[in-house]
Amino acid sequence: MENVCPSRRRNLRATGVAALLFLSGSLFAQKPAVVPKAFGDDYAGSDMCQMCHEDNFNNVTHNNAHRVLETDPRYGFQGHVCESCHGPGAKHASTGDISFIRFPSKLSAAETDKMCLNCHLNQPTHAGRIQSTHAKNAVSCPSCHKMHVNGGTLLVARKNADVNTLCEGCHANVKAQFEMPFRHKIPENAMKCVDCHNPHGTVRPTMTQTFAASEPGCLSCHGDKRGPFTFEHAPVKFDGCTACHEQHGSANPRMLVRSTVRQVCLECHANMPNAVPGESLAMGVVPPALHNLNSPVYQNCTVCHQKLHGSYADRFLMK
Ligand code: HEC
Ligand code: HEC
Ligand code: HEC
Ligand code: HEC
Ligand code: HEC
Ligand code: HEC
Ligand code: HEC
Ligand code: HEC
Ligand code: HEC
Ligand code: HEC
Repeated sequence: MENVCPSRRRNLRATGVAALLFLSGSLFAQKPAVVPKAFGDDYAGSDMCQMCHEDNFNNVTHNNAHRVLETDPRYGFQGHVCESCHGPGAKHASTGDISFIRFPSKLSAAETDKMCLNCHLNQPTHAGRIQSTHAKNAVSCPSCHKMHVNGGTLLVARKNADVNTLCEGCHANVKAQFEMPFRHKIPENAMKCVDCHNPHGTVRPTMTQTFAASEPGCLSCHGDKRGPFTFEHAPVKFDGCTACHEQHGSANPRMLVRSTVRQVCLECHANMPNAVPGESLAMGVVPPALHNLNSPVYQNCTVCHQKLHGSYADRFLMK
C-alpha cells in the first residue's frame, strides 16, 4: 500500500496550512482548550483516513460531538479530526502499517487519559480527574465513552437508564444494594448514579457530588433537611446523612443503618460501659430520666422527637 494518492495529500496539506490562518487560541472557559497545531508532512488529513476507514470517518463526522474538530478552525484540527486523537498519521496512511499510528487501546490508561485531557482538562467537571478512583484504577476515558459512534448515547450517556447500565456493568455489588427492600429508585431509572457521584472525580472521598460540607449531594433533592435550623441536630449538620442512612439501599425502613429507629438513636444517646472510669462514651447527651426505655412508649423516639433532622421551634427537636 505504498503512497496512496499523493496529489490528494498535497491538497490536504494546503487545507491544513489554510486552517492555521484561522486559528485562535481563545476558547470559552467551558469548552475544551486546545493548543493550535501546525500540520507538517507527518499529517495526512481526515479525507485520507476516510479512504480506508469509511465507517469510522462517517461515525465521527456525522452525529458525533467531535465533528466540530473537523469543521471548526478554532479547535486547531480543521480537516484533521482523526489525528487530533490518533496523532500524525501520514506514515500509517501511506503504508497501512499499524505500527505508525497511535491506537488508544494499546496505550496505558494514563496515556489515553492524557490524550483526552489535552483538550478536556480545563472543564470544571474534570477538575478532580487525575486523583479520581477511576483514574487510579486504570479506568480510562474510553471505558465509558465510545469515540466512534454515530449518535450521542454511547459517546456520552445522559439518560438515566443508559448511565445506570454503564455504571452497573462494573459495579455489580452496588447494583445488588439497589435491590434491597428500602432504596433509592435506581432500578426504575427514576434517578441515576451521577446524581450523587461524579465519575470524573471530586474533591470528596468516593467521588460524591458536593453540595455543602460533609454532605454528599443529598440536599439537592432533600431540601427540607437543609436548614439552617434554629435548633440543629449535631450529627445531621456535622456527620452528614450517612451517619444514620445507607446511601444506596437498606433492609431497614427509611434506609436506616440499624433495623429500628431506637437503635440508631441509642448508638449515640446512651451511656455505655467505658474502660475509663468516670467518663461517658455517649456522643450525644443521655436521654433524661423520664425516658423509661423499657416502656414501649419511649421506644419509638421519633413519635416525640419528630423534627430529628432539625427544628425551627424546639430545642428537643419535638416540633
Ligand atoms: C491505505 C489504507 C489506510 C489509510 C489511508 C489509513 N489506514 Fe488506518 N489502518 C489501515 C489498515 C490496513 C489497518 C489495520 C486494520 C486491521 O488490522 O484490522 C489500520 C488500522 C488503524 C488503526 C488501528 C491500529 C491498531 O493498532 O490496530 C487506527 C487507529 C488507524 N488505522 C487510524 C488511521 C488514521 C487516523 C488514518 C488517517 C490518518 C488512517 N488510519 C489511514 C489502513 C489505512
Ligand atoms: C476523540 C478521539 C478520537 C477521534 C477524534 C478519532 N478516534 Fe479513532 N479511536 C479513538 C479511541 C479511543 C479508539 C479505541 C476504541 C474506542 O474506544 O472506540 C479508537 C479506535 C480507532 C480504530 C480502531 C478500532 C475501530 O473502531 O475500528 C480506528 C481504525 C480509528 N479509531 C480510526 C479513526 C478515524 C479514521 C478517525 C477520524 C475519522 C478517528 N479514529 C477519530 C479515539 C478517537
Ligand atoms: C483536540 C481536542 C479534543 C480531544 C483530543 C478530545 N476531545 Fe472530546 N471534545 C472536544 C470538543 C471541542 C468537543 C465538543 C465540545 C462542545 O461541543 O462543547 C468534545 C466533546 C466531547 C464529548 C461530548 C461532550 C458532550 O457534552 O456531549 C465527550 C464525551 C468527549 N469529548 C470525550 C473525549 C474523550 C474520551 C477523548 C479521548 C479519547 C476526547 N474527548 C478527546 C475536543 C477534544
Ligand atoms: C466511569 C465512567 C466514566 C469515565 C471513566 C469518564 N467519564 Fe466522562 N462522563 C461519564 C458520564 C456518565 C457522563 C455524563 C454525566 C452527566 O450527565 O452528568 C460523562 C460526561 C462527560 C463529558 C460531558 C461534559 C460533562 O462534563 O458533563 C465529557 C466531556 C467527558 N465526560 C469526558 C471524559 C474524559 C475526557 C474522561 C477521561 C479523562 C472521562 N470523561 C472519563 C462517565 C465517565
Ligand atoms: C443517593 C445518592 C447515591 C446514588 C444514587 C448512588 N450513590 Fe454510590 N454512594 C453514595 C454515597 C454518599 C457514598 C459514600 C458513602 C460513604 O462513604 O459513607 C457512595 C459510595 C459508593 C461506592 C463506594 C462504596 C461502595 O458501596 O462500594 C461505589 C462503588 C458507588 N457508590 C457506586 C455507585 C453506583 C454504581 C451507583 C449507581 C448504580 C451509585 N453509587 C448511586 C451515594 C449514592
Ligand atoms: C470499566 C469499569 C467501570 C465502570 C464502567 C465504572 N466504574 Fe466505578 N470503579 C471502577 C473500578 C475498577 C473502581 C475502583 C475499585 C472499586 O472501588 O471497586 C471504581 C470505583 C468507583 C467508586 C468508588 C470510589 C472510591 O473512592 O471508593 C465509585 C463511587 C464509582 N466507581 C462510581 C461509578 C459510577 C457512578 C459509574 C458510572 C458513571 C462507574 N463507577 C462506572 C470501575 C468502573
Ligand atoms: C436525585 C435526587 C435525590 C438525591 C440526590 C438523594 N435522594 Fe433520597 N430520595 C429521593 C427520592 C425521590 C426518594 C423517594 C423514593 C421513593 O419514593 O421510594 C428518596 C428517598 C430517600 C429516603 C427514604 C425515605 C422514605 O420515606 O423511606 C431516604 C432516607 C433518603 N432518600 C436519603 C437520602 C440520602 C442520605 C441521600 C444522599 C446520600 C439522598 N437521599 C440523595 C431523591 C434523592
Ligand atoms: C441522627 C440520625 C439521622 C441523620 C444524621 C439523618 N437522618 Fe434522615 N432520618 C433519620 C431517622 C431515624 C428517620 C426515620 C424517622 C421515622 O421513621 O420516624 C429519618 C427519615 C428520613 C427521611 C424520610 C422521612 C422524612 O422525614 O422525610 C428522609 C428523606 C431523610 N431522613 C433524609 C435525610 C437526609 C437527606 C439527611 C442528611 C441531610 C438525613 N436524613 C440525616 C435519622 C437521621
Ligand atoms: C451520630 C450520633 C447521634 C445519633 C445517631 C443521634 N444523635 Fe441526637 N444528638 C447527637 C449530638 C452530638 C447532639 C448534641 C448534644 C449536645 O448539644 O450536647 C444531639 C442532640 C440531640 C437532641 C437535643 C438535645 C439538646 O439538649 O439539645 C435530641 C432531642 C436528640 N439528639 C435526639 C436524637 C434522636 C431521637 C435520635 C435518633 C433518631 C438521635 N438523636 C440520634 C448525636 C446523635
Ligand atoms: C413520649 C415522648 C418521648 C419519647 C418517645 C422519647 N423522648 Fe426524648 N425527650 C422527651 C422530652 C419531653 C424531652 C425533654 C425533657 C426535658 O424537658 O428536659 C426529651 C429529651 C430528650 C433528649 C435531650 C436530653 C437533654 O438533657 O438535653 C434526648 C437526647 C432524648 N430525649 C433522646 C430520646 C431517645 C434516644 C428516645 C428513644 C429511645 C427518646 N428520646 C424518646 C420525650 C420523649
